[in-house]
Amino acid sequence: MIKSNEEIELLKIAGQIVGDTHNYLKQFIKPGITTKELDKLAYDYIISRDATPSFLNYEGYPASICTSVNEEVVHGIPSDRILQDGDIISIDIGACYKGYHGDSAWSYPVGNIDEEKKYLLEHTEKSLYEGLSVIKPGMKIGDIGYAIEQYALKHKLGVVKELVGHGVGKHLHESPDVPNYGKKNTGMTLRKGMVIAVEPMLNLGEPDIYILDDDWTIITADDKPSAHFEHTVVVTKDGYEILTKR
Ligand code: MF3
Ligand code: CO
Repeated sequence: MIKSNEEIELLKIAGQIVGDTHNYLKQFIKPGITTKELDKLAYDYIISRDATPSFLNYEGYPASICTSVNEEVVHGIPSDRILQDGDIISIDIGACYKGYHGDSAWSYPVGNIDEEKKYLLEHTEKSLYEGLSVIKPGMKIGDIGYAIEQYALKHKLGVVKELVGHGVGKHLHESPDVPNYGKKNTGMTLRKGMVIAVEPMLNLGEPDIYILDDDWTIITADDKPSAHFEHTVVVTKDGYEILTKR
C-alpha cells in the first residue's frame, strides 16, 4: 500500500486532472443541462489531458462520471434528466494517467437551493475536512471514520455506512477500506506514502439507503437529499497532501 516517489508523481498528475475536470465542469452545472451532457463534457476533457475516465466500463459501469441528484446518494448514471433550479448534484470523477488513478466527488447546487440543502452541502464538505485533518503517519484508519461520524452526528446528518473510501493506485479501489464511521485508535496504521480516497456520504434524513433496479444508483430510503464529497490524498511525513485539488 506504500507508493514509491515515482508512483506518487503519477498519482499527483492523475489527481490534478480530476481536480481540473471538476473546475471545468462547474461552469456548466446550471438548470437546463442534462446529466448526459455533463458526462460528455467530462469525457472529452479527460481525453484532452491524455488520460482516460476510470469509471467507464469499470465493472460494467456505462458512463465516464457518476451524477447523483438530490435523494440519489452515489453512482447515479448520466441520462437525459434535465437539472432543475433547486437541485443538488454530486459529480464523481475518476481519471487514469499512465496507469494511475485519481478519484474525487463533489456536490454542487443547481441555481438557488433551499436552506436545508445548503446546510447539507456545507456540513458534508466540512465532515470531509474533519476526516482528513487527523491524517498523519501513526494515526489509524478508525481515527478518520471517528472524526467524520462525530461531526455528522453533531450536525444531525445520517452517515451512509454501506459504502466506504479506499486506497487508490494502479487500481481505482485498493486496500485499505476507509469507512466514514469508526472508533479512535482502531484499524490499520497510516504510513507515509499511502494514498487513500476519503469520501463521506451524508444524508439530511436517516442513514438508510437502497439500490435502484439499474443496479447502480443508490437512493436514500426516506427520499431526503444526500451529499458526497471526496478527495484522494497522500500521507506525507507529517500530515497529508490533497492530490485532487481544484
Ligand atoms: N468514485 C466511486 C468511488 O469512489 C467509484 C464509482 S463506481 C463506478 O468509489 F463504477 F462508477 F466507477
Ligand atoms: Co472513491
